[in-house]
Amino acid sequence: MTAMARAPKVHLLGLGSMGTVLAVNLLRFTNAAVIPLFRSKEKVDRFQTEGNSTIGIREIYDKKSPLFTCKLEECECPETYQGGPIKNLVVTTKTYQTKDALQPYLPYINSSTNLILVQNGLGVLELLRDEIFTGKSSRPQLFQGVISHGVYLEKGYIYNHAGWAPMKIARIPWEETGIIQRKKDAQADRAENELVALLMEQPFAQFFGTQHMTYQELLVGQLYKFLVNACINPVTSIMDSLNGEIVDDCSDIFTLIVDECLQVLELSYSRIFNYEDVYQNQKEYPDMKVKSVLNTEHMVRQIIEIGCVINAKNSSSMRQDTLYLRDTEIEYINGYIVKLASRFKIEAKTNRAIVSLVNLRLGLNRRRANVGD
Ligand SMILES: NC(=O)c1ccc[n+]([C@@H]2O[C@H](COP(=O)([O-])OP(=O)(O)OC[C@H]3O[C@@H](n4cnc5c(N)ncnc54)[C@H](OP(=O)(O)O)[C@@H]3O)[C@@H](O)[C@H]2O)c1
Repeated sequence: MTAMARAPKVHLLGLGSMGTVLAVNLLRFTNAAVIPLFRSKEKVDRFQTEGNSTIGIREIYDKKSPLFTCKLEECECPETYQGGPIKNLVVTTKTYQTKDALQPYLPYINSSTNLILVQNGLGVLELLRDEIFTGKSSRPQLFQGVISHGVYLEKGYIYNHAGWAPMKIARIPWEETGIIQRKKDAQADRAENELVALLMEQPFAQFFGTQHMTYQELLVGQLYKFLVNACINPVTSIMDSLNGEIVDDCSDIFTLIVDECLQVLELSYSRIFNYEDVYQNQKEYPDMKVKSVLNTEHMVRQIIEIGCVINAKNSSSMRQDTLYLRDTEIEYINGYIVKLASRFKIEAKTNRAIVSLVNLRLGLNRRRANVGD
């Protein structure tokens, strides 16, 4: 029997925007059973009674697309979960929610569990390694998904899929020494790992845009996206603006942010930044462009083009969070750079100021909502 002959079970922690788009597409295009893990029994009851256990996605990037709905036969929460070990776990909570969300399910996660983080930002790996899975022998098989899909809530359990873009996936090494993988390591995962095989199964991979690769290839894409987020998210939140409104005047602050981020990232990810010198033309390893992509001048141009020109009308997710008085992911974006810098005993003053200003903007919005202007 092949791995795909039986229906794989996928537990999903975080049935919000990303979780729903992933769940609906898995149910449409594969034979996987998707089981959401809710925060509480109250949330499960509400989903079953008010939501009729049904989630939906409207692909608004395609004007002719109908609403795709799916009924979820099973759902769980910490009070009800009595299943055995979890085989496949997709985490689509916000980064800062990861620890609390995982905690109740730790007894069911072991070295045979495939756990994929589908989140923005950096720093969750360190959190999992240093605070959650401290025992090496029981650590799950860990993967990362880097997503650029854009999704937001319409109402109830129906979400709008506004922007389609590929989702990159790769195995994350638990230790820094495993950061460079051979092409055949990735091939082995595609052939043998149930979760990777599922996410790369056709037609799911084609419709969802999943691309599987080595960790170093994913990391370059993740760092690229991280730098975009480190500029667009906080600056539009602090200025309370749409992305396009800052286009003419943002290059100074973007240059300061990117320059400092790259200085710190180069210390921490030196194997990636030196990759071309060491691995270029070695057949076992993929070719990658690093220095011509991850440099300040190129990145600032790209961030302005992608963030402020192509997505001019977009209101960034962090700005939305500050407007709706929700916690932000700042600690896993610019805050990550501040923490990393302190590990190398250097200062990241620009990013520290950016973190403070985002927190100030959120605090101010909350104060105005409570006591008025
Ligand atoms: N949405 C996008 O377009 C987009 C694009 C790129 C990247 N991302 C990234 O994807 C990640 C997820 O973002 P999102 O937009 O999908 O967030 P979201 O809509 O807020 O979804 C997060 C979900 O996690 C659930 N959750 C939180 N704590 C939980 C717990 N303890 N137990 C169970 N469930 C819990 C929340 O449920 P409650 O209602 O109970 O809190 C919510 O349903 C983030 O890192 C984000 O930056 C999102």
